[in-house]
Amino acid sequence: MHWTTLLALVLAAPGSAVVRFHCSQLVVQRVDPLVDPGQIPSSHVHQIVGGNSFNATMDPAKDMPAESTCTTCQFTEDFSNYWTAVLYFRAQNGSYKRVPQLGNNQFEKARGGLTIYYMQDAIYDQGQSSKVTAFKPGFRMFVGNVSARTITDAARYRQLTYVCMDTWTQRAPETMAFPTRKCKEGIMTSIRFPTCWDGKNLDSPDHSSHMSYPETGTFESGGPCPATHPVRTGQVMYEVVWDTKQFNDLEWPADGSNPFVWSFGDATGYATHGDYVFGWKGDALQRILDTSCWFNTNCHKESNSVVQSVEKMNECAQERVLDEDIDGWLDALPGGYQAQYGPSA
Ligand SMILES: *[C@@H]1O[C@H](CO)[C@@H](O)[C@H](O)[C@H]1NC(C)=O
Ligand SMILES: *[C@@H]1O[C@H](CO)[C@@H](O)[C@H](O)[C@H]1NC(C)=O
Ligand SMILES: *[C@@H]1O[C@H](CO)[C@@H](O)[C@H](O)[C@H]1NC(C)=O
Repeated sequence: MHWTTLLALVLAAPGSAVVRFHCSQLVVQRVDPLVDPGQIPSSHVHQIVGGNSFNATMDPAKDMPAESTCTTCQFTEDFSNYWTAVLYFRAQNGSYKRVPQLGNNQFEKARGGLTIYYMQDAIYDQGQSSKVTAFKPGFRMFVGNVSARTITDAARYRQLTYVCMDTWTQRAPETMAFPTRKCKEGIMTSIRFPTCWDGKNLDSPDHSSHMSYPETGTFESGGPCPATHPVRTGQVMYEVVWDTKQFNDLEWPADGSNPFVWSFGDATGYATHGDYVFGWKGDALQRILDTSCWFNTNCHKESNSVVQSVEKMNECAQERVLDEDIDGWLDALPGGYQAQYGPSA
């Protein structure tokens, strides 16, 4: 479908907010206030975007994001932190090298980072027009399973996917495992969070069980939330572009297996995951979700929000708190991990 066709559909069916914006990289390091709070270093390397108050502690009772003085996100009221693991290439001699990131389509000048979506409705189907609730201060969540090494483990999560991009704008087909061939333009990972909240807990011991998928169907099909998790939230989605191009000229495994490895050792791809700490100021996110804005063309105007330039986003950055090599050719992944493959078929 063409962009212009999509726009025409939106004009015909108001009341469907889909906001897409970018956040440049804030820092890449082993810090994880959600899963390993207070621990420096945390278990594995992450790339983090968002407000610059990000640190290892982030006490939920303190609304830490509000202490930020800048954000790497386009919306100036978004001091949330969004993060994922990072990707490494494993050479045939067993050494690892970190895969750099790129800004996404339309955000080419960004210093790496993540593209964030908040959706009130399906992207391509404007049929539904539903109210979704923004998250509350102190809210955080996690999606995925770092121990997953089989498609059965991964299937518990909906839509944590990979696209092998042969062109810059290619978005399909999506796979649940790492691509096993050379992708001309890089690999895109997409992470979609669950969309039903229990309405009570800002977090849970596994950082996941206060959220749920719809009882039947999907968020996009308007599937109802289960009684245990009755509050329908916006769909949060991340897109990350991994610049794998430079590794296409190196030697790849002769058995046809994939040479990419997540920073915690997963070489199957099934353990991709995402972390989210809400940090929008006041009602800024709800204002956006209540509009009928479409992508980044009019969302800030309709919601009375301020957006900053990519140059400004890139200016916000954090020093690493740890002095360890994460970018050279490494004998082991930071934290001591080696590539782990799934059970052999
Ligand atoms: C994190 O930030 C809080 C609030 O500014 C501060 O009290 C704490 O010492 C910081 N922790 C670390 C590990 O930097
Ligand atoms: C391993 O292979 C990579 C890629 O060819 C090379 O750059 C690196 O120097 C090698 N490392 C060692 C220890 O030989
Ligand atoms: C994560 O995967 C591991 C490994 O298969 C499995 O034992 C565990 O039950 C999974 N956890 C969840 C929450 O699915």
